[in-house]
Amino acid sequence: MKSIVILNNKGGVGKTTSVVNIAGALARKGKKTLLIDLDPAASASMHLGLDKNSASFKTLCDFIIDGAPESDDYIQNTAFHKLDCLPSEPALSDFYEEMAQEQDGGFFLERRHLPRKYEFILFDSPPNMGSLAFNALALADYVLIPVQTQYLALNGLQLTLKTVDKVRRHLNPGLKILGIFGTQFDRRTRVARDVLQLLRETHGPLMFKTAIGVNSKLVEAYNAQKPIIYKTPAARGALEYTALTREIQKRIKSDTA
Ligand SMILES: Nc1ncnc2c1ncn2[C@@H]1O[C@H](COP(=O)(O)OP(=O)(O)O)[C@@H](O)[C@H]1O
Ligand SMILES: [Mg+2]
Repeated sequence: MKSIVILNNKGGVGKTTSVVNIAGALARKGKKTLLIDLDPAASASMHLGLDKNSASFKTLCDFIIDGAPESDDYIQNTAFHKLDCLPSEPALSDFYEEMAQEQDGGFFLERRHLPRKYEFILFDSPPNMGSLAFNALALADYVLIPVQTQYLALNGLQLTLKTVDKVRRHLNPGLKILGIFGTQFDRRTRVARDVLQLLRETHGPLMFKTAIGVNSKLVEAYNAQKPIIYKTPAARGALEYTALTREIQKRIKSDTA
């Protein structure tokens, strides 16, 4: 089992879109995959069809409140074969910091809570670096960093890399950066091409070859509550996330060889 946190301290950079579509691509390839949604906005859960407004199910929030020894009862099947989700809900934000203050350190997730039956466990992180995000980083194997191909996004990347360094020093010395990839890449604009070039010059080996272009089909797939590979498999966004997922698997394989 390999665990990966998708991380960027900024909101709106494509974390949720990426984590759901990578999880979808892994499951589509037959890899048993779990997505743990750490964002109270619950967008990854909704992207996978787990919407608290229209159905009743247990969430990560219940898991924390119950102080359950196992996470199995809180993990939900999705409509997609081999893809499960430990969903989030807005109540998570009310409870979490409060409970975290009461409990020393505030880390509720432990490695034993990550079921070994999954080949991949992916965490979607919230836009702010609260203790839930640090909790995931403390037990994960890898960090995966999406970066918008705009100059302003480069500051966010520096901040994210600093966060990873801090986690390595204090919480998880074994945490590795799996890689960085460009998102919302508009290949028609000079700025986007320049930023991608700059990222490749600065972070060479960490950069994935695949960048995710701007693609409205990704937004449509979100609205349809499906990973794009199940909605419009021939769309550019689906092909790019499949290519990125292939690169991710290859890196993990050579890292663990
Ligand atoms: N490659 C893309 N092309 C078009 N829209 C995208 C793309 N990636 C993300 N979006 C849209 O941008 C917004 C922010 O993306 P999201 O994945 O929610 O970011 P984050 O989780 O980092 O806040 C969403 O409305 C999403 O549908
Ligand atoms: Mg998000």
